[in-house]
Parts: sequence; C-alpha cells; structure tokens
Amino acid sequence: MLPEQCKTTGKTAGKASSTDSTLYGMILENIDRAVVAFNQDGRITLFNPAAEALMERSSRQMIGQHYQELFKEQKTLLYLVKVALVDGRSITDDEGLYLHRSNAAPLPVNAYAAPIYTHRGDHDGAVMIIRDLSRIKELEGTLRRADRLSMLGTLAAGLAHEIKNPLGGIKGAAQLLAMELAEKSSLLDYTQIMIKEVERINFIIEELMDLGNPRAPEIGDVDLSRILNDIILLQREAARGQSIKFTLKLDPSIPPIKGDEGFLTRLFLNLIKNAREAIARKGEVLIETRISSNYHMTCPGRRSSQMVDITISDTGCGIEAEEMDRIFTPYFTTKSTGSGLGLAICQKIIEDHHGLLKIESSPGEGTTMIVSLPLYR
Ligand SMILES: Nc1ncnc2c1ncn2[C@@H]1O[C@H](COP(=O)(O)OP(=O)(O)OP(=O)(O)O)[C@@H](O)[C@H]1O
Ligand SMILES: [Mg+2]
Repeated sequence: MLPEQCKTTGKTAGKASSTDSTLYGMILENIDRAVVAFNQDGRITLFNPAAEALMERSSRQMIGQHYQELFKEQKTLLYLVKVALVDGRSITDDEGLYLHRSNAAPLPVNAYAAPIYTHRGDHDGAVMIIRDLSRIKELEGTLRRADRLSMLGTLAAGLAHEIKNPLGGIKGAAQLLAMELAEKSSLLDYTQIMIKEVERINFIIEELMDLGNPRAPEIGDVDLSRILNDIILLQREAARGQSIKFTLKLDPSIPPIKGDEGFLTRLFLNLIKNAREAIARKGEVLIETRISSNYHMTCPGRRSSQMVDITISDTGCGIEAEEMDRIFTPYFTTKSTGSGLGLAICQKIIEDHHGLLKIESSPGEGTTMIVSLPLYR
C-alpha cells in the first residue's frame, strides 16, 4: 500500500502522565503489540519484548539505531514514522501492510504511529505500535473459502442434477451396444472404456452433489489415532513403486473427539492422498497430532474448547503462491487424473466440524496442512 492511502487519525497531543512509570513499564513488557519509540532524531529509545519477537531483533541491538535502518526499504512504515516525527500527527495503516524481516516470511500487520509530547507540550519523538495480523488473516481466509464454497456448491449441484440424466442414457446405450457386439469383437474394449468413463463422471458428480447438499454429520466419538493409522495402511499400499516414508507421531493422550467418523476419514484421506501425490518418487509424509496451544474454540452456549492440531507435512512439489487461493475452488486441479474436488470437500468437512485449516507451502520443498478441530470434553 502506498503512503498516500494511509488514513490520518488526527492530531493527538496526548500528555504523558508521570504517575506510576513502573506500571507503564510493566504494561509495555507484557502487551502483545510491538511498541517502538523514537527520539526526535529518529533513533530508537524503546523496543519492547513483543517488538523483539515480531522483528526478531533484540532490544540491546536496536536501541540507538535509526528508524530508517529498522524499516529499510519499507516505504509505508518509514512514511508512518516520518508523519509522527516530523509533522507531529498520528497516523494508522491497516490495509495490506506487510512487515519484512531478514530471516522470516513477511508478516501481515497493522501499524499506528503517534507523536510523543512532553508534559509541557513539546514534541519529543514518536511511538509506533505494530500488531501481528497473521492469525486474523488465517481466519478471514477460512471464512472467504467457506463462502465461495457454499455459493459454488449450490450452483454446481443444480447443474450436476441435469448432467446425471443424459449420462445414464449414454451408459445404457454403451451397455446395449456391448450386448449386441459379438463376444470377441475388438470394439468391446471401446464400450468398456465408455462405461468406465461414464462411471468416473458419475462419481465426480456425486461428490459434487454431496458438496452442495451433504448429509448432516452424524456426531459421535472419533478416535483420531485409529482413523489415521487405517488411512496410512491404505496409502502405504497405494504408494508401492514410489519410495515414500510415512511417519506417524500421534499424541496418545488425545481423547476421542466429537465428529462424524465417515467425514473425518474422508478429510484426512484426501489430505494424505494429496501429500502422497505431491511426491514424485522419493520423499516423506509426516502426520502429527497434538493439543493446540494456539486456538480455543468458543461456540454460543458452549464452554470454550481446546483444539487438536492434526498436521500433515510432505516433502513434495509444494504449491505456487498464485495457486494458493485457487486450490479450494471445485475442479481446480494440476493433476491429469484429479477431479479437483478433494480440498473443496475437506474445506466443507472442516467447516461442519467448526475447525480451521492452515496451509504453509514452499514450492520445491513441500507443504504442511494443519487441521485444527475442537476437542469438546
Ligand atoms: N500437499 C500438496 N502438495 C502440493 N500441491 C497440493 C497439495 N494438496 C493440494 N495440492 C494442489 O491443489 C490442487 C487441488 O487439490 P484437490 O485435492 O482439491 O484436487 P486433486 O488432488 O487435484 O484431485 P482429487 O483430490 O479430486 O483427486 C491439486 O491438484 C494440487 O495442485
Ligand atoms: Mg486431492
């Protein structure tokens, strides 16, 4: 985002009170927003622990450095500090802003900069507060995908219905043709292909209709370790001819979770199948379960619940950044034999279970999918 698009929030010549500076110090130590203060020369005078964590630099290293060093080549952040420092105005930017760090991926953030005024009203430096938006962005992504899916699901289910009838006709005609042909006719092979392909289209359509109008989940106790073990048995079999190591690291202390066993099996089967298919010849698929330290689920009328994280990582081809947003779209596939419905179905199942899906991927290195499901006790 360009500096011109930043919103100015008006002049706030907030007078600092001298009461209880220890309390202020403690707040700055404990707050989860990065707070960085600059003197009138633009040099850093304060760098709180959240700023250390967010920017991966220590306060000792940063105190005394110039803000132009800290935000080198980060136009918007430089502009925000300058407005607060030079013009004495407070300013905020909360759209499309990324904090670039030397050793880690850019982080979506929002930033607020304000001038600092002394008790006597003299302008003496500026303060910048930066908030990490990565978790909020993840949640927004989940909601956006869910919206798109429900719209497409309804539309496609109507269309699928229309396709099923003529398809039945084609299959019937191919079967009749097969009956009419002499037993050893070489044309029989063609009728077999026709029937098989019609069945494949039919299967895809049924999956799609499921997506638009699925059966209601039947909630029961689901033993995650058991279904993951069963899926791995099948996938090991399917991976014959490739050299894929499947590793399971399951936390035995996780109790059964509340969910639909059939749907959850389908969810993990789709994800693990994708992981296997992403590996050309040799590689590893790692499946881990653990109680999540990141999220708690709160539903109206229910006690807040801890979440279980099920992580599926592969050392496969990875997903290109520009494809990341399309992989949940029904029929998007990069495989010659894929239907492109797998992830759309996964998204729906996760949504039905009030869960979340997080994806991390590096093209050429691999992909990690983290499913977080509530653990209602
Ligand atoms: N673990 C992964 N690694 C790399 N790419 C992936 C991974 N998972 C999904 N993808 C990409 O997302 C696309 C969509 O996946 P999805 O499961 O919806 O369909 P598909 O696997 O192509 O077909 P289907 O699941 O119906 O057999 C894939 O074609 C692939 O390009
Ligand atoms: Mg798939």
